[in-house]
Amino acid sequence: MAEVVIVESAAAAGELVAEEIARLIARRSDAVLGLATGSTPLPVYAALRNRLAGADLSHVRGFALDEYVGIDPAHPESYRSVITREVVEPLGLNPALVHVPDGAEDGIEHAGAEYDAKIRAAGGVDLQILGIGTDGHIGFNEPGSSFASRTRVKTLTAQTREDNARFFDSIDQVPMHCITQGLGTILEARHLVLLAYGEGKADAVAAAVEGPLTAFVPGSAIQLHPHATVVVDEAAASKLRLADYYRYTFENKPAWQGI
Ligand code: F6R
Repeated sequence: MAEVVIVESAAAAGELVAEEIARLIARRSDAVLGLATGSTPLPVYAALRNRLAGADLSHVRGFALDEYVGIDPAHPESYRSVITREVVEPLGLNPALVHVPDGAEDGIEHAGAEYDAKIRAAGGVDLQILGIGTDGHIGFNEPGSSFASRTRVKTLTAQTREDNARFFDSIDQVPMHCITQGLGTILEARHLVLLAYGEGKADAVAAAVEGPLTAFVPGSAIQLHPHATVVVDEAAASKLRLADYYRYTFENKPAWQGI
């Protein structure tokens, strides 16, 4: 089962995860980070900017989880642009070492296998940051995704397109398809860190962490991972049955252990 850490705010979640990433980079200057987009990882990236200001991060490598298919990479909401704006530029990473799945329609049938091969060639992801969709997706593995799935094209659910319409001028502009790391790909990362905040995520978090293992809730795949950490605020934790036990466990955890 995943370790669940309940914190008081999204900012506190960001600090906790940034601390773990900083520790990782201190051990391995060429650490491989699995990067998520959307709103959830932003407090992590903000905390990293403060914590690692001035550090040489030019050897750190990164792999984004997903990209929209058919979006112009220069579009401000393409995940390539988001990763460049939120992670690569502010942290001073080497853009050549930070990869995003190629969402170009031309050649899309090979893009997934090529991306998985790149991750393998890099030696795998050390720490994968994850958000979770209100429908339980991680990456863009929508309900029904196989736990064995590899990076491939998926159709976004209407719910995900509605959730993501806030980043675009209208829902019609939200692409219909995406290319996403598969659940099998994500599970190969050495440490999974899933974050969620707010009441709107409470059902998805409870289903992923405490519900049955089912492709209907792709986030439940984290239960198969030997080192998965779930960092949630009180609202996102509000439907967890064992919340008191998670608090008690974390309060009594040896400080050297990290998350
Ligand atoms: C983003 C991603 C998605 C998001 C999820 C939650 O790369 O893979 O799984 O993490 O849709 O989105 P936010 O964080 O915007 O609520």
